[in-house]
Amino acid sequence: MSADTSSTTSGGGRLVVVSNRLPFILKRLDHRQWNVEPGSGGLVNALLPVLRNRGGIWVGWPGTVDEDISELETTLAELTRDAGYSLGPVMLTTDERDKFYNGFSNEIIWPLFHDLQTNCNFDPAFWQVYQQVNLKFARVLQKCSEPDDFIWVHDYHLMEVARELRRLGVCSRLGFFLHIPFPSLDIFLKLPWRFEVLRSLLEFDLLGFQTLHDRRNFVQCVRTLLKGIWVQGKGQVLTMRFEVPTVAADQSVAVKDREIRIGVFPIGIDYKTYAERAASDEVQQRAQYFYDNLRGRQLILGVDRLDYTKGIPNRLAAFRHALRRYPDMHHKVTLIQLVVPSRTDILEYHNLRLEIEHLVSEINGEFTESGWVPIHYIFRNHELPELLAYYRAADIALVTPLKDGMNLVAKEYCAAKVKKDGVLILSEFAGAAGQLQKGALLVNPHDIEGVADRIHEAFTMGPDERRRRMKRLRRAIRDSDIFWWVDSYLGAAIEKELSDFPILEEYIPHTERVLVD
Ligand code: UDP
Ligand code: G6P
Repeated sequence: MSADTSSTTSGGGRLVVVSNRLPFILKRLDHRQWNVEPGSGGLVNALLPVLRNRGGIWVGWPGTVDEDISELETTLAELTRDAGYSLGPVMLTTDERDKFYNGFSNEIIWPLFHDLQTNCNFDPAFWQVYQQVNLKFARVLQKCSEPDDFIWVHDYHLMEVARELRRLGVCSRLGFFLHIPFPSLDIFLKLPWRFEVLRSLLEFDLLGFQTLHDRRNFVQCVRTLLKGIWVQGKGQVLTMRFEVPTVAADQSVAVKDREIRIGVFPIGIDYKTYAERAASDEVQQRAQYFYDNLRGRQLILGVDRLDYTKGIPNRLAAFRHALRRYPDMHHKVTLIQLVVPSRTDILEYHNLRLEIEHLVSEINGEFTESGWVPIHYIFRNHELPELLAYYRAADIALVTPLKDGMNLVAKEYCAAKVKKDGVLILSEFAGAAGQLQKGALLVNPHDIEGVADRIHEAFTMGPDERRRRMKRLRRAIRDSDIFWWVDSYLGAAIEKELSDFPILEEYIPHTERVLVD
């Protein structure tokens, strides 16, 4: 699929991308200078090539609080001078960061939508500030957009933006893409603001989900909680119709028909760039350094933001189990676990770090022998060439989230395995399982013994089998890369007639059928 390099959408207007985070995080050094770091996480890494390629505006929060916008506008303009797109900052106060970002977004929606409702803190004050900040984003958008622009809102921080934009009288076409899973009805019902969130989502013209499963959950919630919903069609994009009551100036109520689209668009990566950069001399040399130091051992790699959805403690427990059950792995494997600091103000994240560090030292204490430390744990953000070198050098990638919208690390690992000599162990509960089920070794991350067995299977897998699987994985990732994703989303958002979309694969866990007498 070729990359579309137009700076406008096929509807004629510009592309206005909106997400909570901008691709840069700014921190004040002194009254004139800013420290700039790249934003972490899949959303930023996936959207960057889209904006570079198509141009447009990216509206979001630069990660700093209680700052005057005029002071950082010059710095942001400098950062994107040759990038082909511009940035529209939305400034937050300390209270907004605490209640909107840490609170509603990351202590309610994030855990709830990842099926971890016991981690939720349903503080009503969070909801008030969530609405206030969504209105703030809508006001910035109202100022910087034109009626024929396509406004594309991303992720769970901004589910109320469409409603606020419509209230402000913005009539541009509006799209939404949810990067995280959408939960099942039983879980969604726990949200005290479930009606408001659903009603606002229905103000968008196109809703995009990562998997068929997420969209099915959404449709079930809408059908159960709201009246008069019709869903038509099959395949990647469906049409949803419903009646909306409108109150006229004379207070009479009329009912209007409204139609929106709901689609499934599994997000991809910039495959070509990852593969080319992984094949570069710089990355090859860095990878060689790892090979030399491993002295014939297989490298098992884990790469995750510090997040309880990523299943890092379960993974460590499975690795320990593998070492106990399979002594032939002793001295022959090294697990390198890279952890990227994330959401450090939230207590669960802090506690998770302690839990992981405790487990790593316990396992190393149990197995380390002269010349062999089984786990290397690194807690910091890595630049791309360094990360690619880890991917290239890793014989096995362990991607075992408890639940994940997609998981781009799994796709990046395969893109970087230019010699097709790696094995991907992947959680059944990552969105990527649908597309990658035929090449990966799939695991239930809660099944410690099962994951341990798959680690050993990967460790003993021969080169032909590795190559056969990795070729399949790379083909699937290349064929639905980030440019395919953006083309198919914008196609569904803007085209009147829906074009043909490829058939999506769904992952359904294998069940052992038992005959009952
Ligand atoms: N990543 C990074 N620095 C690192 C390790 C990882 O920027 O040191 C990136 C990685 O390349 C990937 C993203 O973080 O693009 C993680 O995305 P994923 O979808 O796997 O999970 P998320 O963090 O979005 O939940
Ligand atoms: C996930 C979310 C993104 C978020 C990223 C990093 O990928 O879907 O919306 O940006 O994690 O988290 P942070 O809280 O640092 O933005």
